[in-house]
Amino acid sequence: PTIFREDYAPFAWLVPTTRLEFVLGLENTRVTATLDVERNPDADPSPTIRLNGDGLKLISLECDGGECEGHMMDGDDLVVTLPGEKHTLTIVTELDPGANSQLMGLYASNGMLCTQCEAEGFRRITFFPDRPDVLSTYTVRIDAPEDQFPILLANGNRTGSGKSEDRMHWSVWHDPWPKPSYLFALVAGDLVARKDSFTTMGGKEVDLAIWVRDGDLQRTEHAMESLKRSMEWDEKVFGREYDLDVFNIVAVSDFNMGAMENKGLNVFNTKYVLADADTATDGDFDAVEGVIAHEYFHNWSGNRVTCRDWFQLSLKEGFTVLRDQLFSQDMGSAPVKRIEDVRILRSVQFPEDSGPLAHPIRPDSYREISNFYTATVYNKGAEIIRMMRSMAGETRFREGTDLYFDRHDGEAATCEDFVKAMEDGAGLDLAQFRLWYSQAGTPKVSVTTSLEGSTAIVDLSQEIPATPGQDEKQPMPIPLRIALFDRETGTHRGEELIVLDKGKVRFTFDGFDTEPVLSINRGFTAPVGIERDIARADLAFLAAKDDDPFARYEALQDLVTGHLVEAVGGGLSDSTRDEARRAIADALEAILADEALDDQMRGELLILPSQTYLAEQMLVADPGRIFEEREGLKAWLGKALASNFDALYERAAAAPGGREAEAVGARKVKTLALSYIAAADPDRAETLATRQYDAADTMTDRQGALMVLSGLEGLARTDRLAAFYERYRDNPLALDKWFAIQASSLHPNVVEQVKALAEHPDFTLRNPNRVRSLYMAFAGTAQGFHASSGEGYRMIADLILALDPINPQTAARFVPPLGRWQRMEPNRAALMKEQLERIAAAPKLSRDTYEQVTRSLG
Ligand code: ARG
Ligand code: ZN
Repeated sequence: PTIFREDYAPFAWLVPTTRLEFVLGLENTRVTATLDVERNPDADPSPTIRLNGDGLKLISLECDGGECEGHMMDGDDLVVTLPGEKHTLTIVTELDPGANSQLMGLYASNGMLCTQCEAEGFRRITFFPDRPDVLSTYTVRIDAPEDQFPILLANGNRTGSGKSEDRMHWSVWHDPWPKPSYLFALVAGDLVARKDSFTTMGGKEVDLAIWVRDGDLQRTEHAMESLKRSMEWDEKVFGREYDLDVFNIVAVSDFNMGAMENKGLNVFNTKYVLADADTATDGDFDAVEGVIAHEYFHNWSGNRVTCRDWFQLSLKEGFTVLRDQLFSQDMGSAPVKRIEDVRILRSVQFPEDSGPLAHPIRPDSYREISNFYTATVYNKGAEIIRMMRSMAGETRFREGTDLYFDRHDGEAATCEDFVKAMEDGAGLDLAQFRLWYSQAGTPKVSVTTSLEGSTAIVDLSQEIPATPGQDEKQPMPIPLRIALFDRETGTHRGEELIVLDKGKVRFTFDGFDTEPVLSINRGFTAPVGIERDIARADLAFLAAKDDDPFARYEALQDLVTGHLVEAVGGGLSDSTRDEARRAIADALEAILADEALDDQMRGELLILPSQTYLAEQMLVADPGRIFEEREGLKAWLGKALASNFDALYERAAAAPGGREAEAVGARKVKTLALSYIAAADPDRAETLATRQYDAADTMTDRQGALMVLSGLEGLARTDRLAAFYERYRDNPLALDKWFAIQASSLHPNVVEQVKALAEHPDFTLRNPNRVRSLYMAFAGTAQGFHASSGEGYRMIADLILALDPINPQTAARFVPPLGRWQRMEPNRAALMKEQLERIAAAPKLSRDTYEQVTRSLG
């Protein structure tokens, strides 16, 4: 059944307190839940209470210590008749965590037990009103065999512990903050901790602990430092202080997503906790810092103020993504972080927004909420709040967020509540801006410029494409930071923020003798596509001169994108192609020589637009042609600038190591230089990469070298792949990289290789990280996934069908790549659609996969 946002009604009952008792066993866990319930004065009264369940085995049920007046099962839910104002329900259920391969609810991972309850996993533990607007105060007692589960953790503070008979022991945890069931967590296992402490601005000392398996302790230092920096930053920038005596983080190797913000007990995918130079790349270090911050920031944006219903998911996720992005901007290079975030938005969210799965950041309906943990809800959601921040300025934005936290502390709120707090606190008028919450699709802004007398004219218009269920769109306010450059001096008179709030608007600027060059959407103030009518020479000018680092990056991207889109379209004469390539080479040469740039920024400027972003710029995409032209350009640039890339490589290879920004930057440009050299001169690249691999003292260098080698033929490739495997065969996260590097390689036989890797003894469908490392990497490639034979599509469909009965949530995540079929050239479109139809025809599909496949078929 489909659930609609409009159908929201408050729950008829309140659950002021919840007591849970767990007697843990890997194959058999008994849960006794005691709920105090009372009628909700603010809801329509009901003679029954509906307690959600999902595959639960009910052992017993009592009302007020005796038999209930009536109860029945309605599907998986338990409906109990309650005649009075207040009752106590006691429910006993029995679970088999070892058999829980969905990784939702209570499950086993490497001999430990842990939970994942967001969004609807709590109903797999006990019968409960499993909806985010039912807040309750939890006390949890855990009993378990001590040798098997020496560490017992739950939300909040530990209030007691002891030993009992038969080598059992127990702990009691109390969380004083009322919370929805999705924030419940429990962990039991043989774990060790890195411990530290943090003193809050109010002088409260908080015990911090990061719990991992024995051998992983030395890889937790970076996570702990990141946590302390996050706590300090949230006090300083958002005025948010932590509110319990303890903050625990646990790393788990089997996990569907990145991490989870359970109150006082965050549970993480190991990928976002463990990092040292030998096993993690520089990118992994940044991801750990960002996700640690993200989950910590949820303590206020998510936990203290939670969501009324799941349609409001972006209330906590969009806001928290923005908060973690701003944090990372402050911890490292702000412009580089901004470019990275925009790159993710454009290569993941833009395609989502233009395909069959497009939805507004606040969706109107769903069948399975897990399918809406999307780049749209998260990343576009963050951009929409960032626009409010740009319009209000930092100081007024802070007044808005202060009011929001103040007004809604302890509540389950809505996106509308957030917008209202921004209006009242930040002094913005957001009447029309609310459309950003309800309209899907990436707006296209068209720009033309001209000069009349001494007046510079900028004409802007917007168009929002139709998306499923939304044919007609209304114009939205689009804030654009701009500057007008003087061609002679290379300077401008200052930036301003203009807001395009109608279909078409003309902006005029006086006092220009010559037509200025427009720099627009500086800092990417609005998540839109810009179509500008601009000469190649002017793009080259901005790529060299723009003082906004994002705008400079953008000019270069436009220069490359413009050429590649034209080239893929066909009919380019050799001389026109060469002329365009020459212009790009000149721009890159200037960037290579520009001493004012740091290497991290230089690296960003050297990254060519992604295959998916390029496909996005075309009405009908031919992945094979895009691949050819993009690789062709890369090879051409590698040849034209051979000595420059050699020099860059040599310089970077000689730079000192370590984790300082300069060292990280040097590794980044070294990897990029090597990839250009590889495109132009595979033999030379083989020599360099082999040498780099053998001398590497970081995972960044090792992975960079292996990526290049894995695209080549020959002994160096096989030898180094085997060496990597031997070195890391006992380290799951590093082994994931071994799978991913091969699955995304430029090797001509990549399809066959992925088939062989799926049979490798270290491959398993039971571990989501392993599945993603092999198949997500593959699903992004032109030469593998989009192989013209259709074999890549068939492999992904086979994977979905095999994984669906085991782990539907992760299986459904592989549908969107096939869902791009409507935008592909006819041959591939038919092959992709055929696979979607094959999946749709399978018996007993999960709700997750069924919803994604039917939406994708349109
Ligand atoms: N709230 C988590 C985060 O973004 C995501 C958890 C979602 N989990 C799931 N199984 N859908 O930090
Ligand atoms: Zn989140």
